[in-house]
Amino acid sequence: MNICKNTVFFVLSFIFLYVVSASQTLSPKNRGNKKKQDEKYKTKIGPQKYTVFDKKFVTETVAGRDILSNYRAFFAETDEYNFNGLVLGYVTPWNNHGYDIAKIFGNKFTHISPVWLQVRRQGKNSYIITGTHDIDRDWVISVRNAGRERKTKVVPRVLFDGWTANDYRAFLNNKEEVKAIIHTLVQSCKQYNFNGYVFEVWTQIAAAVKSDVLVKVISAIGDVFALENLDFILVIPPKRGENELFTDDQFDKLYEHVTAFSLMTYDYSNAEMPGPNAPYSWIEETITSLTSNNTMRSKILMGLNFYGNDYTAAGGGPIISHDYIKILQKYPEKKLTYNTKLEEHYFDYKDDKGFKHLVFYPTLFSIFKRLELAHKLNTGIAIWEIGQGLDYFYDML
Ligand SMILES: *[C@@H]1O[C@H](CO)[C@@H](O)[C@H](O)[C@H]1NC(C)=O
Repeated sequence: MNICKNTVFFVLSFIFLYVVSASQTLSPKNRGNKKKQDEKYKTKIGPQKYTVFDKKFVTETVAGRDILSNYRAFFAETDEYNFNGLVLGYVTPWNNHGYDIAKIFGNKFTHISPVWLQVRRQGKNSYIITGTHDIDRDWVISVRNAGRERKTKVVPRVLFDGWTANDYRAFLNNKEEVKAIIHTLVQSCKQYNFNGYVFEVWTQIAAAVKSDVLVKVISAIGDVFALENLDFILVIPPKRGENELFTDDQFDKLYEHVTAFSLMTYDYSNAEMPGPNAPYSWIEETITSLTSNNTMRSKILMGLNFYGNDYTAAGGGPIISHDYIKILQKYPEKKLTYNTKLEEHYFDYKDDKGFKHLVFYPTLFSIFKRLELAHKLNTGIAIWEIGQGLDYFYDML
C-alpha cells in the first residue's frame, strides 16, 4: 500500500515539477572529455589502499560531486569479500566493461553469467544452441581462475528463443524431446568448459502451460545437471500485485532440483509509471512470500539492479553508468534525495530544453541496504549487470 502511495506521489510530484519548469535558456553543450572531467573532480581511478567503508562513502547524504570523485576507484585487495551467500553477476556483450569486472573482482562472485546463448528447437527431438559466436573461451578460463579462494563458476544464460506454441507442446509432452534437449545442453557445457547454465524460460511459458508439467520438465533437466556436476540456475519473475507467475508451491517443488533461483526483483516502475527501480519492502515481500524457511532461502538470488532510469514526462528509460555520470557532471552540486521507505536515492534536473527529468540509479547506500536485507533473509544476490554499475560498488561485495 505504502509503495502504491509512494509511486503516486512520485508521479504527481513529477508532473508538478514538469509543469512548473518553464522554458530555460540553452546552456552550452558539454564537450568536456573524460580526462578533463576527471581532473575537475579529482577523480580517483583504479586500486586504492582504502575501502568505501573506510572513507565513509556509504551514506544517505550524498551529492553528485562525491560520486564523481570516487566512482572509478576500488579497494586494491580485490580478493577480499564481505558477502557470504551466492553472488551471481550477469555480463552482457553490449556493455563489455563487465568482462573486466568479472576478471578483476572474480573472488567476490561465486557465479558469472555471460548473456550469450539461446536454445532453439530445430525439429523432432532436435535442439541447437545458438549465439556461440559470442563465446570467449580465453575469458571463460580467466574468470574460472580469477577467484583465489572460491572458484568462480561460469554459467551462461540460455534463453528459450524463437519457440512456437508447437515447439513448447512437443517439448513439454514427450520424454524423448526432454532427453534430446538435455543431451544438447550438457554436451555444449562440456564442449565450452562451462559450469552449468542459467535458464530463462519461466516467464516466457508459465502463463501458457500447466505449471505441474513445467515443474516436472525443469526438475528432470535439473536432476541430470546435478548428476553431471553442472549448476542449474532458474530465472524466476517477481510478484507484481496479484499477478504471481511463480508461486511458493512451485518454489517448494523445484527447490531440490535446482542450484538456485535468480529472482528478478527489478523494474518495479517503468516509463508509464515513473518511480523506484525496486522498493525495499517489495523485495522483502517477494522473497518471504516464496518461502518462510530460512535455510531454503539460501537458494534465492535477490535481483539487484546496477542500472537506473532517467524519466521524462514523455517517457525516458534505462540509463547505465556512463549516462548517469554524464548527468552528474552537468549538475555536480545536486544533492540526491533519499527515500527511507523505498531505500533508494533519486534526483531531478532540467535538461537544456527546459524539460524536467527524474533520475533513479543505485548508490553505495541503497546497495548496502539491500545487501543487509539479503543477509537478514539469508539469500544470495544476482546483479543485472556488472557492466552497468560503478567500479566502487564492488568494494561492498
Ligand atoms: C527448512 O528447510 C530445510 C531444508 O529443506 C529442512 O531441512 C528444514 O526441516 C526446514 N525447516 C522447517 C522449519 O521447515
